[in-house]
Amino acid sequence: MIEFKGIWKAFGDKEVLRGVDLAVQTGQILFIIGSSGAGKSVLVKHLVGLLRADKGQIFLDGRDVTNLREHEFYEVRKRCAMVFQNSTLFDSMTLLENVALPIRKHLKCSPKESARLAMQRLALVEMDRVADRYPAEFGDGMRKKVAIARALTLDPEYIIFDEPTTGVDPISARIVDNVILELSRRTGVTSVVISHDLRSIFGIADRIAFLYKGQLRLDGTRDDFRQSDDPVVRQFIGGFADGPMEV
Ligand SMILES: Nc1ncnc2c1ncn2[C@@H]1O[C@H](COP(=O)(O)OP(=O)(O)O)[C@@H](O)[C@H]1O
Ligand SMILES: [Mg+2]
Repeated sequence: MIEFKGIWKAFGDKEVLRGVDLAVQTGQILFIIGSSGAGKSVLVKHLVGLLRADKGQIFLDGRDVTNLREHEFYEVRKRCAMVFQNSTLFDSMTLLENVALPIRKHLKCSPKESARLAMQRLALVEMDRVADRYPAEFGDGMRKKVAIARALTLDPEYIIFDEPTTGVDPISARIVDNVILELSRRTGVTSVVISHDLRSIFGIADRIAFLYKGQLRLDGTRDDFRQSDDPVVRQFIGGFADGPMEV
């Protein structure tokens, strides 16, 4: 379980997070949603030590990781993999080579062993059969799957996907949703997905946390969101231009 407790974060005089409390239950697919600039990426970056909170605490399976030193975060990053929005593959390398590279580097194994482990990870995203082909031969969705396979290098227990379907065509977006769902089912990995893709949110989320004005406006199930009569929630999930939301 990941727990954010009362997280505050400002940049200069701009208060981005104003006391965020959020618990991510093991095995779940939790979505963090909110407008662009709401602080979604800022929040998750605290977990892996890319940002430090002004106030508040973060626990990973009960251990306080708020004030770890840089070298101590290595262990946290091993357990919590991040798939960044603009994670790209090397065009000059095959899919297998792309996934094998970080395995070789981090696990310090032979080329043969790293290829075997890369193949296992590609199988988890159903890309093993095309492992010897090049990124340019595939569309966004397939390339994203390989980027996800690469994030599995260190067998993470948690994966944080930062806007995995943003800027991706709608069909590819559904391919990415499926792979997140399948990974969660097959490996039991806990997923945190940052998104404002309504199809993804209502397609695969076990739980949804809506970040608005530095705090969680609503934290609940898909039904809680569908049934909410909070006008701000209604505007966001309806995708309406007009309404009370300040963006
Ligand atoms: N390292 C930083 N330095 C200064 N401002 C930042 C930094 N990172 C994020 N911000 C600001 O914090 C706000 C929230 O950013 P972010 O979490 O990236 O939004 P989003 O919800 O779209 O992921 C934005 O206004 C952004 O400009
Ligand atoms: Mg972001």
